[in-house]
Amino acid sequence: MNSKLTYLKKLELFNELDNFKDGQFFAVADSKIKNHLPQWIQFSPHVFWLKNPEEEKNLTVYSQAVEFFLKSGIGRNSKIYAFGGGATTDLAGYIAATILRGVGWSAVPTTLLGMVDASIGGKTGLNMPQGKNLIGAFHAPENVYICGDFLTTLSEREWLSGKGEVLKYGFLSPDIHQLIVKKAPIEQIAHACAKFKNELVEKDFREEGERIHLNLGHTLGHAFESTLKISHGQAVTMGLKYLFKIMNLNDSVASWDQMVRALSLPAEKYDISHFPNFDIKTFMGYLEFDKKKIDTHIRLVLVKAIGSCYVEEVLMKDFKKKIQTYDEFKN
Ligand SMILES: NC(=O)c1ccc[n+]([C@@H]2O[C@H](COP(=O)([O-])OP(=O)(O)OC[C@H]3O[C@@H](n4cnc5c(N)ncnc54)[C@H](O)[C@@H]3O)[C@@H](O)[C@H]2O)c1
Repeated sequence: MNSKLTYLKKLELFNELDNFKDGQFFAVADSKIKNHLPQWIQFSPHVFWLKNPEEEKNLTVYSQAVEFFLKSGIGRNSKIYAFGGGATTDLAGYIAATILRGVGWSAVPTTLLGMVDASIGGKTGLNMPQGKNLIGAFHAPENVYICGDFLTTLSEREWLSGKGEVLKYGFLSPDIHQLIVKKAPIEQIAHACAKFKNELVEKDFREEGERIHLNLGHTLGHAFESTLKISHGQAVTMGLKYLFKIMNLNDSVASWDQMVRALSLPAEKYDISHFPNFDIKTFMGYLEFDKKKIDTHIRLVLVKAIGSCYVEEVLMKDFKKKIQTYDEFKN
């Protein structure tokens, strides 16, 4: 199960969307990007608008959206379009996975993180008060339209977040690593990342094998994200750095430095010392919620060389000890 990726300019996207102008058109869209969309979509009665997608990626809004689409006359053969970042595509995809036992959907990611990661691979989901993405389904979008023109209005925070995931791909693929260090245009790098993920997911849709490599840096990353309330990508960038340091992967630490510079990322923002309120106890608590924890062990993705990753099962208590005894974590 994978999706058809199409790279296009905004005008080409508008032409593609115009094919649905006179039929029933159902969409979930982030209101922040309303002005990016064709006028007929802006005024379409069957678009469910989100004001603050991450806060609305929950059961309450899910149920409101399902009711909205049922009242709008959605049918088994209808399609749902998603316009927005990862929170919007996660929610829209989950609605598509479940409404009427599943309808088709297409994603138009509008953040860099959405383009390289969240809109691809069919993981859809909702947050619960107990944690992020605790409800979900695998339901791949039929199409993912990648249009770099949306990125012109992205905030600094969202650029950093998206580039954090790009950095991760630099460890998974030698080609992407090359593009990054040669400072290729970000759109070109984003296309390569999207293609890489789509191909990996095609081989292992349900994450029973190699797809787990995409979680590189995410064990510590998720704990940083929850403890420090920073963006996903900034947290992944920190997660990568401290994973390499704790596990003594010195070549990877050097590659991290090289790619951080090439992507013009602010290296100082990934130091624990940048966050005076960092609380090690809270951080360790979040580690326990990692989905890759199996009983007493944690499955860590590690790097042998650029493009060559492997999974190691480590005793959770040993991993925690490595963290607690690492100088930068002591506070
Ligand atoms: N399904 C997956 O495989 C997967 C993978 C990674 C992340 N995610 C999920 O994705 C989410 C994070 O993605 P995200 O960072 O895109 O989040 P997001 O959707 O919350 O977007 C981030 C911010 O950017 C704004 N925005 C969107 N497009 C814009 C544009 N073109 N210009 C200006 N502002 C714009 C949004 O309104 C929001 O404020 C999380 O919920 C995470 O769990 C899912």
